[in-house]
Amino acid sequence: MAAWLLAWGAFAASAAAGAGAGPAFAAAVVVGAAVAATAQGRWRRLLAGAGFPLSALALGALPGMPGWAWLAAAVPLALAYPMKAWRDAPFFPTPADALQGLDGVVALPPGARVLDAGCGLGHGLAALHRLWPAARCEGVEWSAPLAWLAARRCRFARVRRGDMWAGSWAGVDLLYVFQRPESMDRVAARADAEMAPGSWLVSLEFPIAGREALARVGVPGGRPVWVYRVGQSGNSSSNLRPRRR
Ligand SMILES: C[S@@+](CC[C@H](N)C(=O)[O-])C[C@H]1O[C@@H](n2cnc3c(N)ncnc32)[C@H](O)[C@@H]1O
Repeated sequence: MAAWLLAWGAFAASAAAGAGAGPAFAAAVVVGAAVAATAQGRWRRLLAGAGFPLSALALGALPGMPGWAWLAAAVPLALAYPMKAWRDAPFFPTPADALQGLDGVVALPPGARVLDAGCGLGHGLAALHRLWPAARCEGVEWSAPLAWLAARRCRFARVRRGDMWAGSWAGVDLLYVFQRPESMDRVAARADAEMAPGSWLVSLEFPIAGREALARVGVPGGRPVWVYRVGQSGNSSSNLRPRRR
């Protein structure tokens, strides 16, 4: 809010001082960016810095800007982010430390197959690889540019562009999802139908409604990580001990 308000203030002050729309806009972008630079985290900085230019352009602060410029800006967005991907979950990366402690609950043998369904830019894959460097990591992502970038960021993994619902999950030892609450019933049904009993289903943030998790891990104050074993609907406390498959 500070970045946006100060940027708008700078824009109004520059315009009142007689600056043209272009210089006033540039001055305000600089002020907004300077405040945004003090925010913590890349996404916060981006949101804080982009607020003024986007709102100003939408309100017509630069009268010379042609209408088709919005269309041109929308094309890369639509390519990076096809509508189908929105139906399951928009892109949001797994925070680097989000899966901390998961390897204390889930024991995977070397060479185990780990699949991130909807792998985005590969942040989830990287977090999984940190826990199990000897696992065979795979990712599937609907957005072609995101899948391409994930494959380059995660050389250790096999990343393909595709629909996470289309391929088989048979033979996957650990399925990782960071999707949305509405997708979780479908994820659980597919996992139960295709994955071997005793394999692992891990969901960041969203639990499976009506199914008791084997464990909940995650960093304090962060997103919960829900751990399920395929083929087990309820859990006794003895299930909480790490087990090797
Ligand atoms: C919340 S992000 C999670 C990204 C990654 N798993 C991570 O944790 O860092 C959800 C991702 O799922 C992708 N997605 C949504 N629906 C999909 C589908 N049907 N098939 C493949 N990917 C999908 C989105 O494009 C988005 O990148």
